Amino acid sequence: MTSVKEHLLRNEEDIQRILSIVLSKTTAELYASGDYELSTSEERLLEDLVSKRSKGYPFAYIAKTQGFYEHEFIVSEDVLIPRPETELLIEIVKAKFTDKNNFKVLDMGTGSGIIAISLKSIFKDWSITATDISEKALNIARQNIEKILSSKGIDLYLSDWFNELSHQKYNLIISNPPYIAEGDKHLKDLEYEPISALTSGKDGMDSINNIINNAPKFLEKGGFLLLEHGYDQANAVRDLLEKDFHNIKNYQDLSGNDRATIAQIKIF
Ligand SMILES: C[S@@+](CC[C@H](N)C(=O)[O-])C[C@H]1O[C@@H](n2cnc3c(N)ncnc32)[C@H](O)[C@@H]1O
Repeated sequence: MTSVKEHLLRNEEDIQRILSIVLSKTTAELYASGDYELSTSEERLLEDLVSKRSKGYPFAYIAKTQGFYEHEFIVSEDVLIPRPETELLIEIVKAKFTDKNNFKVLDMGTGSGIIAISLKSIFKDWSITATDISEKALNIARQNIEKILSSKGIDLYLSDWFNELSHQKYNLIISNPPYIAEGDKHLKDLEYEPISALTSGKDGMDSINNIINNAPKFLEKGGFLLLEHGYDQANAVRDLLEKDFHNIKNYQDLSGNDRATIAQIKIF
């Protein structure tokens, strides 16, 4: 049997955080109970998680939670782990639409629900719809809606992009769609996350293409489309938008990469 103290001295990635999860103790409690000896089942779980982590398994999937904007979200292997870059979308919406009442918003490919839930918790009178093609992802979104919003206020649809939506119109369509090219070399670092949340066709643009082409039918007059995209996709996104949209504006993430584009539907 080994003690907490001995484990804390191990040179393993996230050992302290993993120990906290296994023993359900805060960091302060861990250090205050250095002489505690782990039971056999606690040792087994600890070694299993340490071994997974050493192979690159994301800590968020071990902790089953990840912070995004103002909340902690439940995550599982069924959803993309929320990324800090995506907080840019929330900042853009806050900066542009803060004075809007009763806005109707559609979050496409909601995953764990981070965008829809963050917006609903800021803009309580907005009516928010969220979709995903993955029933398992929607289950996680549902759990987050329950946890963060006490079940109130987001309509969820299982849908391949717009396919299952009735012709309701929205003031804002927002999406962080899959945008990595199939076969991209960075995918080897993302092997534990759902591939359907990451890739979209040979150049990563299939989903973006679909959303831009179909969004006009689902937007109110003067409505907006806001997309997260790859650092090298801003020009391609702009080219696609120019047919039906104007007032196109790019935004950079904290690393200075083009990461999001907003555009307003042209009024004919
Ligand atoms: C990049 S993840 C974004 C998840 C979440 N919105 C976030 O920002 O963390 C893309 C999401 O799109 C969903 N998705 C992929 N293909 C889709 C499709 N054809 N229709 C609807 N959603 C789709 C995936 O299941 C995944 O949840």
